[in-house]
Formats: sequence, C-alpha cells, structure tokens
Amino acid sequence: MTTETTESALSRFHVKSFGCQMNVYDSARMADLLEDQGHTATDSPEDADIVVLNTCHIRERASEKLYSDIGRLQKSGGKSGKQPLIVAAGCVAQAEGAEIARRAPAVDVVVGPLAYHRLPELIDQARAGVKIIDTDMPLSSKFGQLPARRHQGATAFLTIQEGCDKFCTFCVVPYTRGPEVSRPITDLIAEAEALIAAGAVEITLLGQNVNAWAPESGGIAGLIRTLAGLPGLARIRYTTSHPRDMDEALICAHAEVPKLMPYLHLPVQSGSTRILKAMNRAHTRASYLETLARVRAARPDIALSGDFIVGFPGETEADFEDTLSIVREVSYAQAYSFKYSIRPGTPAATMANQVPEAVKDERLARLQTEIARTSTAFNEATIGRKTSILLERPGRHPGQMIGKTPWLQSAVIDAPDAKIGDMVMVEITDAQPNSVHARPLAEQVAA
Ligand code: 5AD
Ligand code: SF4
Repeated sequence: MTTETTESALSRFHVKSFGCQMNVYDSARMADLLEDQGHTATDSPEDADIVVLNTCHIRERASEKLYSDIGRLQKSGGKSGKQPLIVAAGCVAQAEGAEIARRAPAVDVVVGPLAYHRLPELIDQARAGVKIIDTDMPLSSKFGQLPARRHQGATAFLTIQEGCDKFCTFCVVPYTRGPEVSRPITDLIAEAEALIAAGAVEITLLGQNVNAWAPESGGIAGLIRTLAGLPGLARIRYTTSHPRDMDEALICAHAEVPKLMPYLHLPVQSGSTRILKAMNRAHTRASYLETLARVRAARPDIALSGDFIVGFPGETEADFEDTLSIVREVSYAQAYSFKYSIRPGTPAATMANQVPEAVKDERLARLQTEIARTSTAFNEATIGRKTSILLERPGRHPGQMIGKTPWLQSAVIDAPDAKIGDMVMVEITDAQPNSVHARPLAEQVAA
C-alpha cells in the first residue's frame, strides 16, 4: 500500500549499512519502506536529501564509523549545499541514542533496529523540526508492518529470527537486538516467494541465532525443507548458528536437502575451554569439535567457517595456542577474527586481566596467518572439482565475472557473455587464500 505523500515532501535517500548481514537486510527493508512512501534511492550520499546510517555496535571501531560519517555529511553539505536529514539507525542508535543526540546534534532521527518500521513518521516529525530518539523495543514485531519486498537480484537475505538470549559476556547483541523472537512460517514463505518472483535464486536465512528459530514449527531444518520445495529457488544458506543449538535435524538436512549449500558458519570464539567458560559460551572445545564431526559425517565436503576473538580478558599464551590449534584441527575454509573490544555494559568489560593492545595485535596477526594457511588448503583441495557458480558481480578485468561456489568461495571466471544471476557450470582450476579461479564448462544449468 502506498501512503499519500505530497510532491514537495518527496526526496532522494541513501541508506548506508555497517556491520553484519542482519543490517544489510534491515537496510534493504528501510529502502523498501522509503520507496513505498514515494522517495527515490540514490547511490551517492551527496545527492541525497535523507541519509540513513545503519550502524553496528559490535566492536568499538564499528561505532566510531558513525561519527566520522556524520562529520563528513555535515562538511559536504550535499550537492544543494544543504545538509541532508540524517537518520542514525541500527545497534549504535539502540545502545547510545542519547549520547548520539548529545555528541552529534546534526543527527535528526535516532531509531533502533526494532523500531524502524516507524521511519516515515519519524522523518515527517523531524522535518517539522522535532528531533526524535526512538529506541523502543516494541512487543509487536516490525516485520508485519513493512511493505512488500522490492528486491532485485539473484541472492537475497531473509531474516527469520532476531535477537539473542545467550549473553556471551563480551557481546552487546542481547542488549541492542533484544530477546530471541522468531518470525512466523507463513510470513517467511510469503517473503521467500516474493523474493523468488523478484529474481532471487539463492536465499540466505538470517538471524543472530538461526538454530533457535521456532521449534514449534519444526525448527530451521523444517523451514529449510519447506523452502527447498519452492520452484525457482536453487540454493539455501543460513547464518549465524550457535554451537549449542546445532541439532540433529539440521545436521540431517545437510545430508538430505540438495538445495542446502555445504557451508556452515559456526563461531567458536576461542579454542580454550577455560576462556569459553569465561565467555559464557555454553560449549567446550571438545563439544564443539564433536558437533563438527557429526556435521562432517553428514556432509563430508562441507566448508566450515568460524569467528574468533583474541585477547579476551585473562587469555594467556597457552589459551591462545589452544585457539591456534583448533584452527589447525578444524582446518577452516574461512574464518573471521577480531581483537577483543570492550563493550560498555557487558560483563567482560569490567573483568580483571584485560589484555594489552600490543598482545592482541600480535595474537591477531598469528591467528590470521594460521587461518590463511587453512583457507588456502581448503581452496587448493577444490581444484579439479566441477561445480556450479552463481554470478554476483563483474570481475576486475574486462570479460571477467565473479560468482560463488556451493562452498561460498569467490570464483573468478572469464565469461564475456555471462550476466549477473546466471548459474554457470565450471571446473575449479586455481586457488588463492580468499578466492579460486575457474573455467566455464560447455554444459550450463538453468538458474
Ligand atoms: N569484541 C570483539 N569481537 C566481538 N564479537 C562480538 N563481540 C565482540 C567484542 N566485544 C565478534 C564475535 C562474534 C562476531 C559477530 O563478532 O566473534 O561472533
Ligand atoms: Fe552475541 Fe553470543 Fe548472542 Fe552471538 S550468541 S549474538 S556472540 S551473545
């Protein structure tokens, strides 16, 4: 439904997304919402009358980006010389709404991740001169109040669950995104069908903890099996999972559902059970490895990915070496690694034995060397495989395209006639730490 908007109020808007894929999804939904109001998207913030900064609070540097962007917008003043209306959205907005208003008076609207369905009215109020901070965590879900998806493109995100009840001691998410809430299955099927109708052939199910999705509706394994029945959908992925909730039904789906891609992002954070306990992770090194062994038994070629934090309070050299050894033991296809960052209000922020920055730097470098070694080994082991890739973007050189293999590797091919969204059969010919090269085969598969 399009709400009536007067011609003079119509604007060009730009949404900039920081942080995780949940934010990428939310940014797309905010864009849907503004387009539904008659506003037009622009790729350049300088051209925009409304700029939405969809922020991330997970680490310190992520939140600092908000303030540097606000400074830049103020200085540039936009093409018209007029400063755009600035909306601070996302998790920094949720956690630090009042501080943003104090530190960055140029911001007109502050809106949290659970309240952005109210964006149009907040913008109207801001235009009438009222500065707004809306960091409510309403009981009724925003999802039912958002317009239909306008997504175009071959790959799409679909948020199925939001929030987290795990309270890892380092993490702000339970405070910024609230408790775990699952979206109803009927809404998810309708949204997936709309995405497929708009051209999506791959859907990634998103949530802070997707394995906690609606056990009463058959859990994520049941959802994956239902979505796999939708014609037109070729690939299903999901992220992020918690090791504690990797249940047998989901592991089984990896063995039985061909559309479910052989890739699992299962953050471990540390290889030391002592540190895992201090992190309140509710799993040990051994139980994590045991889960992965079950997954590998179900789907031997699965690509494994993880998240790591180095320099958590109290982490000793021996603890860190346990992290290096788990990387070697699992041999991750890829992994994300971070220096521990104090998040005010979380239990770890006030723990004794904070690790000096220089030690964190040194450990991060060693960890990343180890990860590069295992991800190169994973990519090299795929040389010679014949598989499909889904093309996502042009490559650096003319005629080149980049697509994703089932194992989420970026594969570069020479294919001057191919277009984004094509599913191309290839043979993998060469490997680097973060990508592979491939050669198209004569046989093509329909998307
Ligand atoms: N410091 C560093 N990394 C963090 N993460 C979450 N909170 C912090 C923090 N305070 C990392 C974890 C998580 C990923 C999304 O971000 O590894 O899995
Ligand atoms: Fe944060 Fe832990 Fe929840 Fe993941 S499981 S969002 S790291 S609290």
